[in-house]
Amino acid sequence: MDLMEAQQERMSKEKSETLERSDENTSSINSQMSPGDRIRMSSLNVYYGNSHVLKDLNLTIEDRKITVIMGPSGCGKSTLIRTLNRMNDTVHAFKLTGEIALDGINIYSKEVNPTLLKLRVGMVFQKPNPFPISIYDNVAFGPKIHKLSKNRAEMDEIVMQALKQAALWEEVKDRLKANALSLSGGQQQRLCIARALAVRPEILLLDEPASALDPGSTAKVQELMVELKKDLTLVLVTHNMQQAATVANKVAFLYNGSLVEVGQSPDIFENPQKKVTEDYISGRLT
Ligand SMILES: Nc1ncnc2c1ncn2[C@@H]1O[C@H](COP(=O)(O)OP(=O)(O)OP(=O)(O)O)[C@@H](O)[C@H]1O
Ligand SMILES: [Mg+2]
Repeated sequence: MDLMEAQQERMSKEKSETLERSDENTSSINSQMSPGDRIRMSSLNVYYGNSHVLKDLNLTIEDRKITVIMGPSGCGKSTLIRTLNRMNDTVHAFKLTGEIALDGINIYSKEVNPTLLKLRVGMVFQKPNPFPISIYDNVAFGPKIHKLSKNRAEMDEIVMQALKQAALWEEVKDRLKANALSLSGGQQQRLCIARALAVRPEILLLDEPASALDPGSTAKVQELMVELKKDLTLVLVTHNMQQAATVANKVAFLYNGSLVEVGQSPDIFENPQKKVTEDYISGRLT
């Protein structure tokens, strides 16, 4: 067994402990899931105090596809994507009703450990947020916490693989000890993607990952997303219509907290069914 296989075996053991099926947590809508679905949101409502932010959403996220969430500012995109790995749990007055099932298991069940859930469902944010430590240590951060390597050689392998997957290896392989803040913005964002990939998530959530980047870096992140979907399921929030049209398999249009239209790309761009979707796509709605 080589190093990567040993690492993967340990991780799959830990992950299977995260979401072991039981009568308590098994989703009531499990039987309705199609084989290609990884996540299913059913009658999902989210509130911040009295403010009703997501309204009765039903949406599935398909395996190894890119699902794009789009819609005007404030419509609830970040809230939606953050509920998929329980990042809103600590937000004051956050309340969720309905259900989110990952592989048929309700992720909000008491038995699910949110920290271990985040190993399976990783997140990349709008602004690159590397830690002010070395490039190497940024990528090794998650694997260290979760004890994913037995020795330095295994950790070196994990770091290299994640940087290669994030299309950054060639640019940083000779300066792994340099501070991550010495990288350009585009490189920092790919480093954050490498950091998320280092714990081998199955699903990656990306909230406007390229909106703070120059066109060249945006193109790189875009290419990377298409490459990553060979192994991973991606959920992407973007305001960039061209980016959505280029990478999306499925598009969900959110307006005022409601899901107005869901469809395959390019259908939704070429032939939107709702006027509000058409207005947004054509830039008449911001
Ligand atoms: N922590 C919070 N506490 C209270 N209200 C919040 C919180 N986070 C977001 N909201 C509110 O929830 C609504 C949806 O916000 P969200 O950040 O999900 O929108 P968005 O679609 O991601 O917007 P943008 O495109 O500007 O990023 C907004 O009205 C916002 O003010
Ligand atoms: Mg947002």
